Amino acid sequence: MKGKIVIGSDHAGFLLKEKLKRFLAERGFEVEDVGAFSSDPVDYPDICESAVRKYEEGGYDFGILICGTGIGMSVAANKFRGIRAALCADPLTARLSRQHNDANFLCLGARIIGEELAREIVRVFLETPFEGGRHIPRLEKIKALEER
Ligand code: RB5
Repeated sequence: MKGKIVIGSDHAGFLLKEKLKRFLAERGFEVEDVGAFSSDPVDYPDICESAVRKYEEGGYDFGILICGTGIGMSVAANKFRGIRAALCADPLTARLSRQHNDANFLCLGARIIGEELAREIVRVFLETPFEGGRHIPRLEKIKALEER
């Protein structure tokens, strides 16, 4: 697996982000880190916006966002047009978020899952292609919602 990933976390996700960065780099991914750069408190919407803006510059395959539960990051990320952020705490959800929803951002809760599970979720998410087919019109309906 190879590609370009933008990754970000708040203070609660900082340590898991650092571990996942190593995991991704070892597997040949190019990783752009938009912070946080320490465990000092930061607001997850700010990091989320930096990650999405970076992703929007183009050339990125996926984004990964980590906070305490993953909820704040996923709520924030899904406010942006074209972002389909999936909060995953298990590999099956990660696989289905790619196959059915063509998720382009993966959100993780560092206070919810351990490092090993996080790595497996990331691996499955990055390796699973979108199925297309019957899921395409459903994604088009989501896009239409963004225009209303
Ligand atoms: C930070 O304490 C925490 O609220 C944040 O990381 C996240 O879990 C929010 O959803």
